[in-house]
Amino acid sequence: MSDSRIAVYAGSFDPIHNGHLDIVQRCRKVFDQTIVAVLSNLEKEPTFSIDERVEMIDQELEECDDCEAQSFSGLLVDFMETVNARALVRGLRAVSDFEYEFQMALMNRRLNPEVETVFMMPREDYIYLSSRLVKEVFFLGGDLDGLVPSRVLDRLARVRDLSGDSEPR
Ligand code: PNS
Repeated sequence: MSDSRIAVYAGSFDPIHNGHLDIVQRCRKVFDQTIVAVLSNLEKEPTFSIDERVEMIDQELEECDDCEAQSFSGLLVDFMETVNARALVRGLRAVSDFEYEFQMALMNRRLNPEVETVFMMPREDYIYLSSRLVKEVFFLGGDLDGLVPSRVLDRLARVRDLSGDSEPR
C-alpha cells in the first residue's frame, strides 16, 4: 500500500459538468492524488464513448498534475486495489441521493472493508446539477451557462449536429 493519499472519484461522467469539477477541486485539498474513475460498461448506452468521457475530463484537468482520469470496468473496489486507493469519493447533492449512496457505500465496504467512502458536497450553485439534466436541457435548447465547461458544450453540440434530431439518446 502506498503512503500517499489517493482518492478515487468514481462515476459515469456522461458528460462531466461543473458540479463534478467542484468535487475534484475539493478532493485536491485533502488527497495527494485524485483519480477520476469513469465506468466504461454502463447499463444504458451512454451519450459519449468511454474514450470521449475520459478525454473530456483530462482536458478539464490538464492544469492539475495531481489528477487524472482512468476508465474502469467490473467492480469499483477491484479497480481501487489496482491503483492502491482506499478512499472512494462520491458527491452528495440532496437527501434523494442518500439511499442509493448508502447502499453502494455499504456494499463496497462488504466487498472490501479497506475501502472507505467519503462524501463531499458540491458548491450550492451545483446542488441540483446532474449529467442527465445537462443533456436534457441542452438538447431542448436551454441555457447551461456556468454549469458546464465550454468544451463539453461543444461536444454536446457535435452530438446534436451528428444525430440530426433535437434529443439524441
Ligand atoms: O455516476 P454514477 O452512475 O452514479 O456512478 C455509479 C458508479 C460508477 C460509481 C457505480 O455504478 C459503480 O461503482 N459501478 C461499478 C460496478 C460496481 O462496483 N458495482 C457495485 C457497487 S456497490
